[in-house]
Amino acid sequence: MKTASLVSKDVEHADSIWHNGIISPWTDATVPVRSVGHASVASVFEGIKAYWNTENQQLYVFRLKEHMQRFLDSIKIVRLGNRYTLANLIQATIDVLKANKLKEDTYIRPWNFLSGIIYEQIAPADSPTDVIIDTWPFNSMMGKERGCRVCVSSWTRISDNVLPPRVKTFSNYHNSRLASIEATANGYDWPLILNEHQKVTEGPGACVGLIRNGVMITPDIPSGIMESITRDTILHTIAKDLGIPVIERAVDRTELYIADEIFFMGTGWEVLPILEVDGLPINKGEMGPITKAIDHAYHDIVRGINQKYSQWLTPVWGE
Ligand SMILES: Cc1ncc(COP(=O)(O)O)c(C=O)c1O
Repeated sequence: MKTASLVSKDVEHADSIWHNGIISPWTDATVPVRSVGHASVASVFEGIKAYWNTENQQLYVFRLKEHMQRFLDSIKIVRLGNRYTLANLIQATIDVLKANKLKEDTYIRPWNFLSGIIYEQIAPADSPTDVIIDTWPFNSMMGKERGCRVCVSSWTRISDNVLPPRVKTFSNYHNSRLASIEATANGYDWPLILNEHQKVTEGPGACVGLIRNGVMITPDIPSGIMESITRDTILHTIAKDLGIPVIERAVDRTELYIADEIFFMGTGWEVLPILEVDGLPINKGEMGPITKAIDHAYHDIVRGINQKYSQWLTPVWGE
């Protein structure tokens, strides 16, 4: 029942990719094999989605500015070199979506990684980097009845003074990967990971929200989570519009067991209901009414049906 995927089944790769300021054929965007290890340790990326609106015949990139700002923040924290401004990166994204003639739901991955061949074990600060912006189609799960079964992982989440979770660096995902492999081996879809204080943090690729007695509770950022743009959208806008009070605080493992509803939230997984934790059913194993309302509201915002938040949408076509 793994109802979260970043890629539609038929995708191989786009025709074009944005690479260091140039739209290149995807197959030409190569790096020397000896740089691959360094490039994957010292690299940051973003995960952004663009949604197709059939009625408006428009592709809207959701919160592109905020994603690219987080990309720049990640680059700063891990001290990678960078030659692009926020405006450059926004324009580059529009350019590559146009070059690929995209008129469907599209995942966008900007990626900044160490370029060339590095002989030191530890690459110096501000070493030169390559930047690429890759795109591929995905199938949205919004509006569909869906859900996943999770377990609390035996792995501990990375923390700010180890590998900062607010940085979107590929090396952080090794922790997510170990926890996910364990969850799969134990018959679950995904893990939820506790921090060093045994408080809930997030899933391997999304934040988590709980509903208890009509209130939304979510681990606060110092619990050790990504500064998620979806979480921000749901907490500060959708919950307000739906009249759901929100509390950000530390969350115990056992609070998960007695929640009325639980869901993952993130660009990749959108709003993904959690129907079971450690073998205990949540909302009798069904997608709950508040989760459904949040899913519906998120859908209408990202697809540009609810135009109240059009400042978050970057249209790709026309004008
Ligand atoms: C570990 C982790 N937490 C949370 C999120 C959600 O962040 P956002 O909503 O900005 O996509 C992601 C997704 O990228 C993630 O990988």
